[in-house]
Amino acid sequence: MPVIPVNTPSASYDVTIGSNLLSTLHPRLRKLNRDKPFRPFVITSPEIWALWSKPFLASFKESPTILFLPSGESHKRMSSVESLAQQLATSGADRDSLLLAFGGGVLGDMTGFLAAIYMRGIRYVQIPTTLLAQVDSSIGGKTGVNLLAGKNLIGSFHHPQAVLADTDVLATLPAAQLRAGLQESIKAGIIYDAKLFRYMEQNADAILSGDPAALTRVVAASVRVKADVVSKDEKESGLRMILNFGHTIGHAIEAATNYKQLLHGEAVAWGSIAALNVAAARKTITQKDADRITQLILRYGPLPKFKATAEKLVALTSRDKKNRSGIRSFVLPTAIGETEIVRNVTEPELLAATESMLTLMRQHTAAPRISKKQMR
Ligand SMILES: NC(=O)c1ccc[n+]([C@@H]2O[C@H](COP(=O)([O-])OP(=O)(O)OC[C@H]3O[C@@H](n4cnc5c(N)ncnc54)[C@H](O)[C@@H]3O)[C@@H](O)[C@H]2O)c1
Ligand SMILES: [Zn+2]
Repeated sequence: MPVIPVNTPSASYDVTIGSNLLSTLHPRLRKLNRDKPFRPFVITSPEIWALWSKPFLASFKESPTILFLPSGESHKRMSSVESLAQQLATSGADRDSLLLAFGGGVLGDMTGFLAAIYMRGIRYVQIPTTLLAQVDSSIGGKTGVNLLAGKNLIGSFHHPQAVLADTDVLATLPAAQLRAGLQESIKAGIIYDAKLFRYMEQNADAILSGDPAALTRVVAASVRVKADVVSKDEKESGLRMILNFGHTIGHAIEAATNYKQLLHGEAVAWGSIAALNVAAARKTITQKDADRITQLILRYGPLPKFKATAEKLVALTSRDKKNRSGIRSFVLPTAIGETEIVRNVTEPELLAATESMLTLMRQHTAAPRISKKQMR
């Protein structure tokens, strides 16, 4: 069973990946907390609990307290955190309480933030249930909620005690969610791990059909990338920025479509293609490698089409939270598995790259029009 360490100046913990983790949860929590007392509180959504509560509870002699939040990004708000904190307080939660975030990235980010601020900070464990949460959001200690003014504008760094990623739960994940999460794995391959990239090229059918062995391998390799990058740069002062590959235009696409038409991973996929176009035009990557990457991204589609002009998307990038003092940092691949961060991408360059991504999108076979609601 892959166990991947995260070692940062403020915390060290393991990400464990494998089958059947849920049913051994309680002994694992006891081991993590050694002789310290702990009282578990599960934070989850009714949908996830309906699917997976049985194995989750199998190893508990006494049922933990379960707190529910409806699923969906629209609930990732301060008001949800306050309501959960209130419920914790009335259930007698104290500094010995241990929060268990059991859900996708939305629940994980919120539970982490709640753990960061409840009684000035308590312990929590991430038990991610989406592919995106297993390979990305549960690792690295970034927690937070959205404001109406923008996503993730309130939050803190607060690492979990452990991440327990049970790959069995991916079996119930809607196909579109699986594919969108796999785009973050492709990203990990592009920026850091040529071997993962090749594995995803050569085993696309098995991975996309949810073959457990193939998925476990992809999750483990992607986690290794994130864990390694976060261990080297906890607070995103340098290297961690490479995780934002494809996210500049990706975030702009999400904003332009009001976060309603595309899943995050799908927007990042189009954004990655735009970033590749910048790199290919600058010749920092060969056209051959750029094409090969684009093909892999499209192979893990279908990616939904959307309506937005290049001008609008580029204008939206200036609002990107990752900009510092108005300077836009851009992550560009130099080869498969390697990147560089540049700060001098000009607006005309970005416009041209976005325009050719949009042209490709228009030529691309249309993905079936499904609403985000159906995908969930
Ligand atoms: N903290 C970080 O570093 C970080 C990194 C990337 C993304 N994020 C955040 O992650 C969030 C997105 O996370 P997400 O993509 O996991 O979305 P999500 O949490 O909204 O989950 C997607 C949907 O899948 C359902 N679901 C979850 N697990 C399931 C399962 N096993 N079977 C069936 N259905 C299941 C959920 O109920 C939900 O409807 C965003 O808010 C984003 O900001 C955070
Ligand atoms: Zn992302």
